[in-house]
Amino acid sequence: MLLAHVLQSSRTTLLAHPEQALSADQFWRYADIVRQRSTGYPLPYLTGTAEFYALSFEVTPEVLIPRPETEILVDLALARRPTCVVDVGTGSGCIAIALAAHLPEAQITGIELSPAALAVAQRNAERHGVADRIQWIVGDVLVPRPGPADLIVSNPPYVRTSEMATLPVSVRSYEPAVALDGGADGLVTIRQLLNQAPAVLGPDGCLLMEIGVDQAEAAIDLARTAFPQAQIYIHPDLAGHDRVLEVSL
Ligand SMILES: C[S@@+](CC[C@H](N)C(=O)[O-])C[C@H]1O[C@@H](n2cnc3c(N)ncnc32)[C@H](O)[C@@H]1O
Repeated sequence: MLLAHVLQSSRTTLLAHPEQALSADQFWRYADIVRQRSTGYPLPYLTGTAEFYALSFEVTPEVLIPRPETEILVDLALARRPTCVVDVGTGSGCIAIALAAHLPEAQITGIELSPAALAVAQRNAERHGVADRIQWIVGDVLVPRPGPADLIVSNPPYVRTSEMATLPVSVRSYEPAVALDGGADGLVTIRQLLNQAPAVLGPDGCLLMEIGVDQAEAAIDLARTAFPQAQIYIHPDLAGHDRVLEVSL
């Protein structure tokens, strides 16, 4: 994959033409990214792209690399056929853009603390031809407050600060800490979002939020406090781990 990236070719073409010689420039660029990869630097940051929901996204070290387990959130969101969606902590924009690509009528707002991440999300929206239906806001969870929504989606930072050092080196050394660190109990952003969501969700609205594998009980308690009348579910990911909190009004 690294060699295909340097040659701006495909792996299939490389396999079909093993006789192709590298120029000196190509050789040194290849040697350089092999060296970077050997330190644990993530492959998607080297190639500049990552796949999510069968779409190709630009990724830079300013954004979290989209994870396959987050695709369940998109499946659950699409099943509701929402028309007005807010994505909190949009990062590369992968969730907002996958929803926009599959919901041609929907208006979407992506909120993100990091302006550098939001610039990547904007480029990804243009890449997929959905920029006219997504509004991007630099904000802190739901502040400034967006207009009413029938669906809030979020993959917030949810790793406990004390567990950050136990993450694989490729994650803890190179992916943005602001995308991962959920504070002392891992629930800081989750709590903020559940507290602020009632002011944004319209009647019959729904909130879908990714959570850590051991956070279902705490997330349900917080959701019950914020939405005493709502129906609350936990959905597993494909590995069977508790992964998505659903709050349905
Ligand atoms: C786990 S990443 C998710 C990124 C992307 N949505 C995805 O699923 O790949 C969390 C994102 O939330 C952003 N973030 C962290 N704290 C935030 C806050 N208080 N308000 C808004 N965004 C925040 C981070 O910068 C990061 O982009």
